[in-house]
Amino acid sequence: MDNNRVRANESCGQDEDFLARSMESADWMEQVRNLNTEYALRTGKVRTYRLDVFGCQMNERDAETIAGMLTNMGYEQVPEDQPADINVFVTCCVRENAEEKVYGHIGALSRECEKRGSIVVASGCMMQQPHVAERIKNTFRHVKIVFGTHNIHEFPRLLHQHLTSGKRVFEIWDKEGRVIEDMPIKRSQRHKAWVNIVFGCNNFCTYCIVPYVRGRERSRRKEDVLAEIRALAADGCREVTLLGQNVNSYGNDFGEKDLFARLLYDIEEIDGIDRVRFTTSHPKDLSDSLIRAMKECGKVCEHLHLPFQAGSNRILERMNRKYTREHYLDLVDRIRDAIPDIALSTDIIVGFPGETGEDFEDTLDLVRRVRFDSAYTFIYSPRRGTPAEKWEQTEPHEVISERFKRLVEVQTEIATQLAKKYEGKTVEVLVDGPSKTNPEMQSGRTRTGRLVNFRAEGDLTGRMVDVEIIRAGAFWLEGKEGVHRG
Ligand code: SAH
Ligand code: SF4
Ligand code: F3S
Repeated sequence: MDNNRVRANESCGQDEDFLARSMESADWMEQVRNLNTEYALRTGKVRTYRLDVFGCQMNERDAETIAGMLTNMGYEQVPEDQPADINVFVTCCVRENAEEKVYGHIGALSRECEKRGSIVVASGCMMQQPHVAERIKNTFRHVKIVFGTHNIHEFPRLLHQHLTSGKRVFEIWDKEGRVIEDMPIKRSQRHKAWVNIVFGCNNFCTYCIVPYVRGRERSRRKEDVLAEIRALAADGCREVTLLGQNVNSYGNDFGEKDLFARLLYDIEEIDGIDRVRFTTSHPKDLSDSLIRAMKECGKVCEHLHLPFQAGSNRILERMNRKYTREHYLDLVDRIRDAIPDIALSTDIIVGFPGETGEDFEDTLDLVRRVRFDSAYTFIYSPRRGTPAEKWEQTEPHEVISERFKRLVEVQTEIATQLAKKYEGKTVEVLVDGPSKTNPEMQSGRTRTGRLVNFRAEGDLTGRMVDVEIIRAGAFWLEGKEGVHRG
């Protein structure tokens, strides 16, 4: 899938300067490749890289582009636990603990880099915050190259500059540019793929840093998305997950209404693709036409991630979520009327500034009413530059931890109960490969997104298998030996 053609997204209007810049990316890759060929001839060695990726699927996808560029430039990937010439970090700043982890991991490489003459490249969301880039510059001398989320395509030029001058190169764009198509890519799996459809976010939830570090919404052209998925199908991919901070606003920046629903109908027609997923849907924008598309498109999986964040209207308003608990519950009813077996998952924040015991009870109540298959639960973490950062935290830390614990207990209990309905049933599993915890088992996902482990002879990665479930817990299902059918 490697490809070094780069072009700007024409439907957004041409930007000469940007187009020229992006065309350069391929040229810089060639220049670095030449340096590496010379190095290999001289030393008999191939230069290596290692990737350390934090955060959400957007970062996973960006890491595949970075890996694609490095492969194109002649670097070889080594596993995370082995030393490499270039250590690339793709960072996340959505909560403080995500940032602390990154500082820890980068710091831990300082001796190794000094000893081996290797370097750290830091990229991703954290770098878009000026105070972070400053701290990295001042604290970690072994970080030689820094770029942000908006100028990933410039990495080859920055790397070339570093390799030829030995200098540290820090370049971060403070604003998003046009969407760039056809960057090289090294996908982490063949049978499954992330496909970006819209970048950035316009919603500005008051707790969230994402709009500040990922910029405003920019959609890819529908033809570009479809062309990518067709190429993926031809390459053996069976499942695509469409990515956007809010996929429901896909096309809004072109002035198109309901383009996301239309995209689903078009993907339905692509031979070879068996499953379609998407994330994330904002409850304020999930339309009836999208519900209809989900119902009518057989490839769209019976799973929806629909973050509600908080169950109290007062807190939802302070979060700037632009919906009420009543709207959310009504939406869930409409979705379940259309697709009765749908599995719902969600994100929930506990301890938002001003959240009282009563507000928290509203959150628990909503969890009990909806009965989610799974939930990602977070303790609120103040983020610099967001409105909520300045809002007073009225509750002591212990009270918030206690709420968090209760929420996790309630949700685990519900997930365990819901899992029981799988026992004795046969489910379709797309196999991801040997289980991480027990290599004798194969591991994969149901259409509803449940993790299934089952015994099998040989490696069934990428196969669609019918598995009878013998035991079901909150977090994974255990199956009998699978019967593969494709
Ligand atoms: N665009 C997606 C996901 C954004 S980040 C959405 O709108 O749902 C993923 C999740 O992290 C959010 O849904 C939210 O639950 C959580 N999150 C974001 N900012 C946070 C913060 N400051 N503290 C705690 N959790 C946060
Ligand atoms: Fe953050 Fe809200 Fe945008 Fe999601 S919709 S990325 S939570 S601002
Ligand atoms: Fe983190 Fe950036 Fe995603 S802040 S959650 S990696 S968009």
